[in-house]
Amino acid sequence: MSLSRVADAPARSGIIDSEDGVTPVVLASIAKTKDPRAKEIMESFIRHIHAFARDVRLTEQEWEIGVDFLNRIGKNTTGTHNEGVLFSDAIGLSTLVCLMNNGKNGATETAAALLGPFWRMNSPRTQNGGSIVRSATPGPELFANCRIVDHKKQPIAGVEVDIWQSSPTGMYENQDEAQADMNLRGKFTTDAEGRFSFRSVKPAGYPIPMNGPAGDMIRLQGREHYRPAHLHFLCFRPGFKTLITQVFVDDDEHLESDVVYGVTSALIGGYVRHDSGTPPAPDVKPPWYTLDYTFHMEPGEAELPKPPIA
Ligand code: BEZ
Ligand code: FE
Repeated sequence: MSLSRVADAPARSGIIDSEDGVTPVVLASIAKTKDPRAKEIMESFIRHIHAFARDVRLTEQEWEIGVDFLNRIGKNTTGTHNEGVLFSDAIGLSTLVCLMNNGKNGATETAAALLGPFWRMNSPRTQNGGSIVRSATPGPELFANCRIVDHKKQPIAGVEVDIWQSSPTGMYENQDEAQADMNLRGKFTTDAEGRFSFRSVKPAGYPIPMNGPAGDMIRLQGREHYRPAHLHFLCFRPGFKTLITQVFVDDDEHLESDVVYGVTSALIGGYVRHDSGTPPAPDVKPPWYTLDYTFHMEPGEAELPKPPIA
């Protein structure tokens, strides 16, 4: 059949004769999707990804690179490393989704921040005031005193708070055989005044894993691959929207160039250095740091995210 015969023939639904025909045929083929939300998401995804391919006039070689990139994200994801989350974080998608779904669905400033790829379930329960340092860890000591309040500034008791941070050597315990299992992780519970406190080391900035496709992308973009120093918190109590957040160190050089776009003004904490005075515990030598921070939880559903790693 010659091309002119095809062009002259009456249009038949489902048969694609030109570039312009692809999107309507694909959309029509998924029109019977029963779940309305799944249908909305898939239709929008098809429209946008087709528009993207047209916008950049994607070549066949570039399409191959893109498919290979996706395959490599999957292959690089293991029980202890989540390249998919890392990629989402590194293109700002995680922060966008976080800010759209917190702070009254994006209407106001929020205390939430992206989860990142390193939260683990079942952190060791630790007494208020206890230490999350579980094997020798360098760095000045940190004493954090935190409070959780509701939208009326009333304390919230009984909040379960997971805390995790990287070692100042630049790695989370799950990335580093030199650290004890669950080093720098702990689960605390707020008291009647909504308070919890813990002892640790002052966090340091660190490079994100750069040995997979997300790292290749960041190198291609010629930008920094550091996270500014921070502590992670996940605050859970039925009746409140689970608060996932980070508190950043105020003097970190990468605050304005966080590779995963997590820093908001509300999340820059006051980490105070102490060179003299009575230390918070007899074994503490100067300098040590203190952090006082108040978290705000919104009413809502308490749901736990799927842990990115085992
Ligand atoms: C983190 O803070 O743990 C993190 C977040 C995004 C990418 C890599 C690490
Ligand atoms: Fe982190």
